[in-house]
Amino acid sequence: MRLWDIFLPGVVAFLIAAFVWRLASRRRSIPCPVWLRWLVELDNPFTKTNRAAFIVETIALSSGMTVLDAGCGPGRLTAPLARSVGPSGRVVALDIQPGMLARAKAKTEAAGYTNVEFLAAALGDGMLPAGRFDRAVLVTVLGEIPDRAAALAELFRTLKPGGILAVVEVIFDPHFQSRAAVTNLALSAGFRERAFFGRSLAYVIHFEKPGENAA
Ligand SMILES: C[S@@+](CC[C@H](N)C(=O)[O-])C[C@H]1O[C@@H](n2cnc3c(N)ncnc32)[C@H](O)[C@@H]1O
Repeated sequence: MRLWDIFLPGVVAFLIAAFVWRLASRRRSIPCPVWLRWLVELDNPFTKTNRAAFIVETIALSSGMTVLDAGCGPGRLTAPLARSVGPSGRVVALDIQPGMLARAKAKTEAAGYTNVEFLAAALGDGMLPAGRFDRAVLVTVLGEIPDRAAALAELFRTLKPGGILAVVEVIFDPHFQSRAAVTNLALSAGFRERAFFGRSLAYVIHFEKPGENAA
């Protein structure tokens, strides 16, 4: 038996499961399960634009800023964000699943960060205050949210004028969203595109809320 004969059924089963998951997510929220958090926590070696260090470096953080980690999952970006804004800054890590938040909290506490708040809420439900954040990151989350327009509208509202939202998508995610789809949603919410990094299958887009600089 060849190696391929062993791997092929697994690859096909994975692709079918990913397709069904993606389709089902159009109608209701079926977030990435907590037991898969180990996979989310890996920094993908093939896509630079999905690495926590790249995302955090390119969003131009400075000490004292307030940042939203929307759909923080197990906290892959939460600790690097907390480090970048320093003790006078604040990170709000929001996720719909308490199990993900518990993992993110354990990691940031173990690293000694005290400038992180955890919020169990669904992005798009309007729980975030208006004009609070200088920056927001939405990393491989958008496709898991059935009402994406509501999610983008809430991100727009909760950023300060001049604030920046980084949306990250990668083709390995079963809920991958194309650049055109993300851009349409963001522009409809009132954002303007400020920067693009990567390629069509793995990218970061920075959207700005028009207005005075937040920083
Ligand atoms: C693939 S994980 C990405 C986690 C993290 N952003 C990262 O890149 O490491 C997607 C996360 O989005 C969360 N999520 C899905 N729908 C959400 C919603 N409506 N509001 C907040 N979080 C949501 C899931 O619970 C999950 O933790």
